[in-house]
This record gives sequence, C-alpha cells and structure tokens, in this order.
Amino acid sequence: MTHWETGIRFASLFGAVCFVIGLHLMNSPASARRGNQVSAFGMTVAVVAVLLNVGHGDGGAVMNATRWIVLSAGVLVGGAYGLYAARTVQMTSMPQLVSLFNAVGGGAAALIAIAEYDIHTHPSGGTATATVLDVVIGGITFTGSLLAALKLQGHLSHPVSFPGSHAASGLLFAAALAGSGWVIAGADRKVVLLGVVVIAMVLGVLTVLPIGGADMPVVISLLNAFTGTAVAMAGFVLSNATLTIAGALVGASGSILTKLMADAMNRSVLSIIAGGFGTGATGVMAAASAGGPVKAIAVDDAALQLAYASKVIIVPGYGLAAAQAQHECRQLAEVLESHGVDVSYAIHPVAGRMPGHMNVLLAEANVPYDQLKEMEEINSEFERTDVALVVGANDVTNPAARRPGNAVSGMPILDVDHAKSIIVIKRSMASGYAGIDNELYTDPKTSMFFADAKQGLAALVAAAKTLVA
Ligand code: TAP
Repeated sequence: MTHWETGIRFASLFGAVCFVIGLHLMNSPASARRGNQVSAFGMTVAVVAVLLNVGHGDGGAVMNATRWIVLSAGVLVGGAYGLYAARTVQMTSMPQLVSLFNAVGGGAAALIAIAEYDIHTHPSGGTATATVLDVVIGGITFTGSLLAALKLQGHLSHPVSFPGSHAASGLLFAAALAGSGWVIAGADRKVVLLGVVVIAMVLGVLTVLPIGGADMPVVISLLNAFTGTAVAMAGFVLSNATLTIAGALVGASGSILTKLMADAMNRSVLSIIAGGFGTGATGVMAAASAGGPVKAIAVDDAALQLAYASKVIIVPGYGLAAAQAQHECRQLAEVLESHGVDVSYAIHPVAGRMPGHMNVLLAEANVPYDQLKEMEEINSEFERTDVALVVGANDVTNPAARRPGNAVSGMPILDVDHAKSIIVIKRSMASGYAGIDNELYTDPKTSMFFADAKQGLAALVAAAKTLVA
C-alpha cells in the first residue's frame, strides 16, 4: 500500500471514529449539539478524502479533472441546498425534511449500485448480493420516503388502501426476490437488475400508502433505518469503509429508534407496515364524544387556578411547537414557581412531529432538564396534580386510546384526565394529527382556553404576574 492510500484510509477511519463519538454524545441533550458538530467534522474529513483520492486516481489528468469537477459540483450544490434547508426549515416541518433526506440517501445508494454493476460486469457473489440488497432497499426507501414527505406535508395524509393491495405487495416482493436471485446467480443481467429496481420503487409506494395518522413517525424512522442499510450496502459495493460504517450506524440506530417508538405507541412494527391502523375510526370517535358540553375559561380564571395550585403539570404538544410558544411556557412556569407552585413538564414520546421534538423546544427555552419528565415517570403523578395545563397537545392526551376500535387505540397516553382539574390551550375544537375528537375536552373537569398557544401563554403570564405580585 502506498503512503497516499494509507493516508486516505486513515482519513476515512478518522471520519468513522468521529461518527461513533458524535453518536455517543447525542445520548444526552446537554452534549447533543457537540455530537452533531463532531459528526459533521468527521463527514467533512471523509468527503475531502474522497475528493482528493479521485483527483489522484487512474485515467489521466483530463479524466481526473472531470471527475473532480463533477464531484465538487455535486458537493457544492448538495451542500448549499442542505445548508439552506437546515437553516430555513421550521421545527414543525422537520419530519418532511428528514423524509426527503432519506429519499435522497436511499436513491443515491441505489444509483451507486447500478453504476458499479455497469462498470464491473462480473461482480462476485458477495458484491452481487450487496448490489441487489442496495437496489431493493434503496428503491423502496426512495419512493416510500417521497410519499411519506408528501403525507407529512398534508397531501394524501389519510391511509389509502385498495382491495388486493396486500396480495399485490406479496407478489411484487416475490418477484423482487426471484429477480435478485437471478442477478446473484449470473453475471451481466443488467435488465433484470433494473427490473428489480422498478419493482422495489413500486413496493415503496405500496408500503407507505396504507399508513397514516399516528403511525407516520414510526414509518419515517423505519425508512431512516432503511437508508442507512442501503448506504452500508453501497459501502460494500464500493469497498468504502466510511460508507459501510456510517450506513451501519444509521441503520442500527434507526432500527432501535423504530422499535422504541413502536413500543411507545403499543404497536408492532410489522402491524404498522401491514397498515390498517387509523382507518374507519373517526365515526366511532365522533359518536363517542359528541354531545358533551364544552366549558370555556377566561384568562383571569385560568391564571387564578394556576397561581393557587400547589402542583401543576404542563403538557406540551404540537400546537406549542407550531406557535413557537416555548419561551412563554417557561416564563409562566417561572412565575408560578416564584409563588411556590411545583411545576413539571410531561413529555410524551411522540408529542409533536418528530422524536424528541418537545425536549428540543423546551431546551431551546432553557427549561431545566430535571423538570422534563417522561410519560412512565409522570403518569402516576397526575392524580396528585391540581392543574394539568395542556398546551397544543391533543392525540397524546386522548382517553379514547384506552378503548379499542379507533385511530389511537392502544397508544399509551399521558393520564391528564386523572388530574384534579385540566386547562387546555388551543385555538378551536379541531382534531389533532390522528384526525379524531378528543374526549378529554368534554370531560367535566376540563376547561378550554381558546387561544393561540403563544398569545394565550403570554396573557396567562401577565395575569399570573399581577396575582403573584
Ligand atoms: P396533535 O394531536 O397533532 O394536536 C395538536 C393540536 O395543537 C391540534 O389539535 C391543534 O388544535 C393545536 N394547535 C395547532 N396550532 C396551534 C397554535 N398555534 N396554538 C395552539 N394550539 C395549536 O399533537 P400531539 O398531541 O402533540 O400529538 C402528536 C401527534 O402527531 C400524534 O398523533 C403522533 O403520533 C403524531 N406524530 C408524532 C410524531 C413524533 S415522532 N412526535 C411524528 C409524526 C406524527 P387547534 O387547531 O384547535 O389549535
């Protein structure tokens, strides 16, 4: 091995080590930002090493210059768009962005496998296996993630299924398996490989179409794991250790997150992929909750209840994120604490629109980590709580989840209805992400404070301040 090759391998290894350290630092909210920076630095080193290596490769000066220009243009265009998207994306649109990144990652990995198959017309058994796995997983991820991004953006957001869809998926899967076996068994079967890619892309659409409502976060996480696996396969195809390690890390962490989220919603990953949850429930729920009177509350009365409570639990949800009300939320907690009220925050694992959404928002407003309590930890505290203040949270508080036959059935919820009294801040009686009514809002203990979360909380802060003073 030449000094040059040793240097390039060392740089790749350094990049991979940065990914592992970065991932470890993301274990805690306090060090997560540093973890991101370390991983980004590792990725920069790895990308620069690839660029330098290409410029140093075989094929003559003109060929090397061409490769270098094409790669640099790709890095510049992709990097500039990535930077722009990351800086401008709203926190509430993050899942769509992650989904688009998944699509790009899976699609790129599949393209690498197709291009390499073209260059090496006689790939060995191991490389051929990695090639077909890459195109199948990458193809499914590409179309599945694009569709998931559309669903999260509010298009086609309801589950779509048609008679025979499961049978069609089964047949297509069998065809993809047979085609893959054929490609592995013999050389130069590019047409078959391309056929497998097309089947995989159709499978991606058929897999995501019947999924909807509360199950979408799990799907995004699963597709993220798929992207990592496809990239790891691309690493095998290219004999590139950095790609293999980075892909394996994403694949493994995505799989663990998928399992944790599915458990948090009391679903099995297989049942989510098979679809069917979240369908046909709206009528049941509307019938179950219709007719109960809704009690509205004015800001002064709400502030009075909160200021004279001894224990308050704040339940943040998607509406808090949409309104960017995290700072007002912390201010209210501070005013109440100055009056001797014990305040904590109940964090549901899928509150908001992405894993850790509420933790990130509240950390941004400098809410102390020790006040953030996970669902299992805080649920038993609700019955000793004077006021549960629900801010823009809906599905994660819906008692209907305890009953079968509706879109949130079986999803563990925050036991907000066990509190002595409940105040809900939201703008209307509109439903949440799962599209069903919330029985909590017609509970006799519940008072609705109809307001935008930011304005409502600011008004509460002002009213509570005068009471406390
Ligand atoms: P949701 O059930 O989606 O309810 C959010 C509520 O916020 C809505 O009912 C809305 O009512 C209210 N809202 C919206 N904008 C508001 C504003 N500016 N001010 C005040 N309220 C506002 O939220 P959740 O309880 O957090 O539950 C999360 C749901 O999303 C679950 O179904 C979950 O499965 C799903 N999901 C979660 C994730 C992850 S990983 N967290 C990802 C995708 C989907 P009004 O319009 O009446 O104000």
